[in-house]
Amino acid sequence: MTSPQSANPWNHWSVKRQGLDVLADHLSISTMELSDFYDHPDLFDALLPVSAHLTFYRELARQQGGNVLELACGTGQLTIPIALDGRPTVGLDQSNAMLKVAKRRASGLGAPVGFIQADMRHFALDSDFRLVFVARNSLLHLLTNADLVAAFATARRHLAPGGIFAFDVFTPSLTLLNRSPGQRFPVMDEDTVTFGRLCVEGTCDYDSSTQVNNATWYISTPHVRDAWVVPMVLRSIFPQELPLLLAAAGLELVNRFGDLGREPFGPASRAQVCLCRRRD
Ligand SMILES: C[S@@+](CC[C@H](N)C(=O)[O-])C[C@H]1O[C@@H](n2cnc3c(N)ncnc32)[C@H](O)[C@@H]1O
Repeated sequence: MTSPQSANPWNHWSVKRQGLDVLADHLSISTMELSDFYDHPDLFDALLPVSAHLTFYRELARQQGGNVLELACGTGQLTIPIALDGRPTVGLDQSNAMLKVAKRRASGLGAPVGFIQADMRHFALDSDFRLVFVARNSLLHLLTNADLVAAFATARRHLAPGGIFAFDVFTPSLTLLNRSPGQRFPVMDEDTVTFGRLCVEGTCDYDSSTQVNNATWYISTPHVRDAWVVPMVLRSIFPQELPLLLAAAGLELVNRFGDLGREPFGPASRAQVCLCRRRD
């Protein structure tokens, strides 16, 4: 995938930011292929604002008490409100671009968050935490069993006594994964302040031997079809393998919900919302 930023005189983004939306109608704007969605935090935040996830993790942080570590915290959409609740909070992410936005936002809101740039598979902090969590499918960026077990083991090492490791990932749907490569399907529509209405279509290219879906998202504005083309490479974690991966890292799955409202996990559940403890 090319990195088009230098090749493309596209200025749609700054045009929108200046509020001169009308100009966008008259500009010749072509598709921008992104090599990494997370180099574009404004787009991520516009497309994927948090709602139910914040309620869930905030409540979990309240129940657990004490300090909180969010892995793959992105722009701090969850970390910052949890810190503003008065909990000592650390956010860790590997993306410099996402963390820059997180730091700016936290400082603007006076949120006392410590942000750390690191890979969630391998890091070592001096503190341990009552709650360590990875939200919104971020774990699925880890494509191999070795990567997942490394991240789980690292999270485990940062759990305080009685600490909980929590995460949510989607339940793989064979129907969705088996779509023919190249076939576009609707993913979502989102009204955004920054970009106007964004319409996302996706393709699937699922490798059942690795359980990795090499998908692509095509994001359109009202003015530009396929304004951004974004690779979306995600691993699937099937329900029966999940406790085994955790056990390999010395963790025990103590609860698995089927959604963020804590409904029991079952055959129709679209998500696996998991709470784990250390197996001592
Ligand atoms: C879907 S975003 C989620 C951001 C945030 N948790 C939220 O809910 O808004 C996924 C994040 O995972 C981060 N990420 C992906 N792989 C990572 C890794 N190995 N270590 C740390 N962060 C990672 C990306 O940089 C990105 O910010």
